Amino acid sequence: MHFHRAHVSLGRTLLKTHLPRVIATSISLAATVTGAMLLVACKPAATPPTTAAKTEPSAQSQSFYASDFSKMPAVPAMTELGRMLFSDPALSGSGSMSCASCHDPQAAFGPSNASAVQLGGIDGRTAGTRAVPSLRYVQNVAPFTEHHFDEAVDESVDQGPAGGHTWDGRADTIHDQARLPLLSPLEMANSSPSDIVTKVQRASYADRFRDTFGDDVFNDEQRAFRAVLMVLEVFQQSPQDFYPYTSKYDAWLRGQAQLTEAEARGLAAFNDPEKGNCAACHPSAIQNGSFPQFTDYGFIAVGVPRNSAIPANAKADYFDLGLCGPLRTDLTEHPEYCGLFRTPSLRNVALRHTFFHNGVFDSLERVVEFYAQRDTHPEKFYSKGSDRKARKFDDLPRQHWRNVNVDAPFRGHPDGKASLSEQEIADVVAFLGTLTDGYRPQQPVGSREPAISRF
Ligand code: HEC
Ligand code: HEC
Repeated sequence: MHFHRAHVSLGRTLLKTHLPRVIATSISLAATVTGAMLLVACKPAATPPTTAAKTEPSAQSQSFYASDFSKMPAVPAMTELGRMLFSDPALSGSGSMSCASCHDPQAAFGPSNASAVQLGGIDGRTAGTRAVPSLRYVQNVAPFTEHHFDEAVDESVDQGPAGGHTWDGRADTIHDQARLPLLSPLEMANSSPSDIVTKVQRASYADRFRDTFGDDVFNDEQRAFRAVLMVLEVFQQSPQDFYPYTSKYDAWLRGQAQLTEAEARGLAAFNDPEKGNCAACHPSAIQNGSFPQFTDYGFIAVGVPRNSAIPANAKADYFDLGLCGPLRTDLTEHPEYCGLFRTPSLRNVALRHTFFHNGVFDSLERVVEFYAQRDTHPEKFYSKGSDRKARKFDDLPRQHWRNVNVDAPFRGHPDGKASLSEQEIADVVAFLGTLTDGYRPQQPVGSREPAISRF
């Protein structure tokens, strides 16, 4: 089976939104603090754990964020420590790889090179199996659920699986996620948490750890490892770095910029349920006063072609099936989930050099063309069989083909034409270029009518 995405009516959503909130959004979002910050920052100064608390753990001490540090860590200090750790190659088994090697701050925390998958591991030569995602705009990702109900669309409709971090949603939180690359033999390849703590203890910033969490922070390895994961998580929630909302599209929503004709046509085709229908999964409208993330975090099988550049794919019987495995292991008994991957945000997508979970395409034109023509011209995208016909869905075993989404823009129009013309494909690509952060608006807020009132 495949899951449908009901199209959010732009009119309906926007009508509910008041103008002043639109302009205030960037400010209020910037002020949003995460669970990590709230729990840490709002707790009274930590007291050393009592014996009673040790034998009978309270709900709080079972929480990841329960602060049993002898000093209460402040958010700015944790952010700066996290920033240092994020770029420190000493924290890897090879001594030459940091988080930033794959998640480059100059590339919206995505990969800066054109490889479909990155090299890592103890020798720095082991290839991964998936494209590196941008780490921007994942601050609102809810933990994974198999049954998502969306009140903005129709709260009685089960929209299927949604949420969680990584392409298959297997990490519920950013700190759970950080454990994966730190310990993964394909990535930073540390042998154990204690290995990592030892490295932090030797690092130039070890004293800053003591200043932030207390002199005894390294006495207990588990607690020290928790501090490491926490500073990485808090850094990844820093608004200026990870959700700045400074794209041209944001400026346009605030009434500080004008879209070119091509960009405006591209936005219209992106939203149009009869054309791109992109907004059904990558919402573009302000919802409940929040600027759009360009993802609904839902899981969909798009049926992207197999990428022979990934070494793991040399084995003909290896398939990355996303939700149903092999990296994720709890849903392997659910064939209806095979081939489904989490919808990524399209913010900063124009900074990428490869696209989709396996990095199979190397330009946005190819991606949009694929959406428009997968079903009308499959021979443009898939490998060919011995009969020289396109082997459609060649990265999915046949029994899972029924999971592939066939809503618009797929299938094409009843008259056999693709759902987007060549011109519309170019326009959508132009529009996607407005989603890159770092645009400097020439006009002050309010100098032009905010775009929202024009929907
Ligand atoms: C060798 C390259 C590499 C390194 C080094 C690396 N990552 Fe990643 N990261 C990836 C890949 C690939 C994925 C997608 C994994 C998947 O879908 O299974 C990912 C996914 C993530 C995600 C999930 C984003 C989301 O919501 O989907 C986070 C968060 C993350 N990485 C943080 C980090 C941190 C923090 C570090 C350093 C401790 C780090 N990464 C180091 C390659 C890397
Ligand atoms: C039915 C839901 C759905 C619709 C409709 C949809 N997408 Fe996607 N999009 C996804 C999913 C899921 C992925 C990831 C698929 C994968 O990697 O296997 C994705 C990935 C992408 C990517 C790659 C991003 C990256 O980081 O690699 C781009 C670009 C993109 N979509 C643009 C569009 C455009 C443009 C449209 C409209 C023409 C569109 N999408 C319509 C669900 C959808």
